[in-house]
Amino acid sequence: MNMGCTVTLCVNQVRRTLPATVEASLLTVLRNDFALNGPKYGCGLGQCGACTVLVDGVAARACVIPAHGVADRQITTLEGLGTLDALHPVQQAFIEQQAAQCGYCLNGMIMMTVALLARNPEPEEEDIRRELSGNLCRCGTHLEIVKAVLRAAELTRQNFTRRSQS
Ligand code: FES
Repeated sequence: MNMGCTVTLCVNQVRRTLPATVEASLLTVLRNDFALNGPKYGCGLGQCGACTVLVDGVAARACVIPAHGVADRQITTLEGLGTLDALHPVQQAFIEQQAAQCGYCLNGMIMMTVALLARNPEPEEEDIRRELSGNLCRCGTHLEIVKAVLRAAELTRQNFTRRSQS
């Protein structure tokens, strides 16, 4: 089946209606129609986490979600977190800790971290390992990634304190 129709998506605060086949995945539409290449195609089966985005603030695997299934929901991709001039604390922490080798998994690691810190601003190392256990990194940068998440939590708390004092 390849039925043509349209889908309205709200991605990084931008709302667009696009032609999309009913079976098109969110990942395909984000990469091909929104030109957002933060979410990566890894396994295409929901098993590696490279394609992770946030749907209404919750981490989700865009390769196995039909785009039509998230019409009118708030979708955030890596590109929606920060800018080069104002990095998101999680992005800043991953850069500070040099938590990448090839970098392919990083989109998923960062998006999972954003979702984790929204629920738990002070995660223990064990919480981080559990949260990221479904995200695959074939380079073996896990130790740096865990350090980056701890640093991201610290930066997020500092930003919160700064904002609440100003
Ligand atoms: Fe989506 Fe692997 S590409 S989980």
